[in-house]
Amino acid sequence: MSDVRERIQWLRNEIRRHEYLYYVLAKPEISDFAFDQLMAELKALEAAHPELVTPDSPTQRVGGAVLDELPQVRHEIPMLSLDNSYNEGELEEWYGRVVRGLGRKPEALVAELKIDGVSLSLIYEGGVLMRAVTRGNGEVGEEVTPNAKTIPTIPLRLPADVALVEVRGEVYMPRPVFLELNRKRREEGEEPFANPRNATAGSIRLLDSRQCARRGLRFFAYQIARMPGKELRYHSQALELLAQWGFATNPGWRRCRDVSGVHEFVEEWGQKRKALAFDIDGVVVKVDSIAEQQALGATSKFPRWAVAYKYPPEGERTRVKNIVVQVGRTGTLTPVAELEPVRLAGTTVTRATLHNADEVARLDVRVGDTVWVEKGGDVIPKVVAVDISVRPAGAVPFSMPDRCPVCGTPVVREAGEVAIRCPNSSCPAVQKARLLHFCSRAGMDIQGLGEQRVEQLLQAGLLSDPASLWDLDWEKLAALPGWGEKSAQNLKKQLQDAKTRPLWRLLVALGIRHVGERAAKLLASRFGSLSALSQASQEELEAIEGIGPTIAQSVVGFFASRQGAELVRRLRARGVDPREIPEGPATPAPLAGLAFVITGTLSRPREQVAALLEAAGAHVSDSVSRKTSYLIVGENPGSKLAKAKNLGVPTLDEAGLQRLLSEKGVAW
Ligand code: IVH
Repeated sequence: MSDVRERIQWLRNEIRRHEYLYYVLAKPEISDFAFDQLMAELKALEAAHPELVTPDSPTQRVGGAVLDELPQVRHEIPMLSLDNSYNEGELEEWYGRVVRGLGRKPEALVAELKIDGVSLSLIYEGGVLMRAVTRGNGEVGEEVTPNAKTIPTIPLRLPADVALVEVRGEVYMPRPVFLELNRKRREEGEEPFANPRNATAGSIRLLDSRQCARRGLRFFAYQIARMPGKELRYHSQALELLAQWGFATNPGWRRCRDVSGVHEFVEEWGQKRKALAFDIDGVVVKVDSIAEQQALGATSKFPRWAVAYKYPPEGERTRVKNIVVQVGRTGTLTPVAELEPVRLAGTTVTRATLHNADEVARLDVRVGDTVWVEKGGDVIPKVVAVDISVRPAGAVPFSMPDRCPVCGTPVVREAGEVAIRCPNSSCPAVQKARLLHFCSRAGMDIQGLGEQRVEQLLQAGLLSDPASLWDLDWEKLAALPGWGEKSAQNLKKQLQDAKTRPLWRLLVALGIRHVGERAAKLLASRFGSLSALSQASQEELEAIEGIGPTIAQSVVGFFASRQGAELVRRLRARGVDPREIPEGPATPAPLAGLAFVITGTLSRPREQVAALLEAAGAHVSDSVSRKTSYLIVGENPGSKLAKAKNLGVPTLDEAGLQRLLSEKGVAW
């Protein structure tokens, strides 16, 4: 037993060391494969000896806890925000106030990047992470400990003998992670996040820590707020200590003699910020000496010893002519700014999304305002800032309507969501968006029905729901402006062909929330028909590898809803009822739902291994993707290994594969 204890201890230390090398220093010493082996061994030992599992074990990062709500916690020391400055002059003014306050120049200043995320307070007791709390209103925040534990740059324990320490820092989402998350959300009919900060705020407050673990959040420590009995003299010492403890700290932070050094830092990062993998919105300048910080104190809102310098917004300036509200296919109301046309990254932009009510309130955009618009990495242009200095007199704050702008139904806001929806399923705007989605390339791929035509047919009373496409009155249609015998015939043919589209396309086209192509394919191959799927229970759906409770609930909800059931009935009555041979339910093949890719040389020919896996119900393919369940790694693996690592696809060596097979009762 003591051997096991020692081995576990050794593994944990080794894993922590490699996590640090990988995530904080970005200088891994071992392959990801070797790292996974260590983790797998630790997991196995902990599974065999549950009494030896500790909350600071690296295995605890995967998440697991699902909460009903986030507990509220009062901050021992309030989490203040920072006063802003926007140019050199304002920074000088702040420095002047510091000098007057102290009666002399401060010993030194520290300049750091101002990371655009959400702040988080971490409490370590006896060196172990006990509690993580969001800023909240500065006095009271929300406890998000299980989520914080999933962030790889937050140490679960400190290699130091301190009874109590509160570390503060910024949680953020790297830009590539954000873009990928939004891509996926769009594909699944979810509202994309406005920016990485909003995505971070939403992710760190998720109730299911396993979901949070998948959001790719990171953390930079920027302050030791308290460490009773071990007070430090300088903030810069705190940053050094934090780095020693294994935290990621702000890259490039600098101790400056006076404000001219800060100007240089600001100038330098103004150029370099584009190359960072995360968003910064400025620089934070702090008085280095803690004694001086204390002497300066704080106003009710801001510390006097620190200030934020905000970089001027990028993008182009233009004017907001109007703010309109669009209604999407799920009924979501999205505020959109109509702009004086402006050239941006090669195209003329006349509209920019304002995302949701929270974002409008944060920006305080008003009709008549001059704004900066940016294209960012995301496709849709967005308003990033307002130039308040040229706001016309009498410009009124914008507020979201409390009724749908198209059908007048009072809007609803679901608990925990920022989105406001029109609940009327026959709202003409919702109907139009649904029809467009139904016919889209991602859905039933029916060509010849663009936005204008759909609108025209709706107005002419020839269309209502997607099933009504197959009731079109061809004579009336051919007589409409812009149509004729030929285009009517073309559409007729498209609709006839659409009846034989694969089931998964129809499932995507139905617009069931959370059901994108991936989920639709899983559901189609498992159930084979609309009617079989409509009778599936939540449990049956969740039993499918790759279908979680969110999708399951949404699917059950769709078929149980009057509108969903009615649409399905109407589609089937018109012969839109594709069928596939289902994979067979009750006793699925032992490896059903698993997708394998093989790289390198195994002890048997690759084809033989692939055949064995396929015979047991697995899918074997040549290229690694997010859908790959395992990459099997033999001797001299190829580039697939790196790709798997990148995508977070787990790997198995031959011994690992044999273990998996024996667990599933498949002979090797
Ligand atoms: S120090 C007393 N340092 O900016 C406030 N804040 O606008 C001490 N932030 O709430 C904050 N990077 O969330 C500090 N290097 C940094 C920061 C930073 C980002 C955030 C923080 C704070 C907000 C204020």
